[in-house]
Amino acid sequence: MNQIIEVGVRVRPCFKTEVAERCCSVDEEKESVTMNSPNEECFFDFVKNETSPQKDMFQRVGNSLVSCCLNGSNATLFAYGQTGSGKTYTVFGNYVAKERKITQPGLVPRCLELLFQKKTKTASVSLSMFEIYNDSFYDLMNEGKKCEVKADISGAVIFNGLLEISVRQWEEALTHTINGYAFRKTSSTKMNSQSSRSHCITIIRVGKGTLVFVDLAGSERIERSV
Ligand SMILES: Nc1ncnc2c1ncn2[C@@H]1O[C@H](COP(=O)(O)OP(=O)(O)OP(=O)(O)O)[C@@H](O)[C@H]1O
Ligand SMILES: [Mg+2]
Repeated sequence: MNQIIEVGVRVRPCFKTEVAERCCSVDEEKESVTMNSPNEECFFDFVKNETSPQKDMFQRVGNSLVSCCLNGSNATLFAYGQTGSGKTYTVFGNYVAKERKITQPGLVPRCLELLFQKKTKTASVSLSMFEIYNDSFYDLMNEGKKCEVKADISGAVIFNGLLEISVRQWEEALTHTINGYAFRKTSSTKMNSQSSRSHCITIIRVGKGTLVFVDLAGSERIERSV
């Protein structure tokens, strides 16, 4: 079995409210990030600077995730970082609650679109989406209802009653994703007015392949950001 793990860094632009001095510099050619203090250069599989658009991330990461899934394998993306660093923006895009839409679409909408363009006509697609909040599981495809998680005798994880929705078109898949996302628990932190307070897991199954997106809650100590 081919198993590849890649680690990349995406630096977002500074907001007006933030200090103008940057804490690091990004070298996309060398695939490195240099911290100012301590002065240290770290190398990654890929790095993206603050001018890098959503399309760039998709081309670097989304294409291979989709190919992997269409080849019948499992592919997983984890977004990790402190609150306000751009995890949800990268995974989903900007969610506009009032209009129930996503602007600046991120990896999930773009990967769904590509999956539907590339998959064979007969391959079925299904979606599940849940969040983990305070050690409990909530089914976002089922209006955020609590669901039970157990391990079977072999240690495999079983979700009791987690909805898996069949979708036939990418627009339909996107609508379900946005509707599910609307049930996610968010609140305002010092660094992010729409901070995700839960881990959100989106599972897309295409034939035998599975594509998983994990948008983690902020990695910082809660008392430092709330
Ligand atoms: N690359 C980027 N370009 C432009 N805006 C960005 C970028 N990354 C993030 N943002 C903006 O920064 C803000 C915070 O981003 P986001 O909500 O994705 O952070 P997060 O890492 O998910 O934080 P939390 O852990 O609190 O959920 C949002 O308003 C988002 O639109
Ligand atoms: Mg978030």
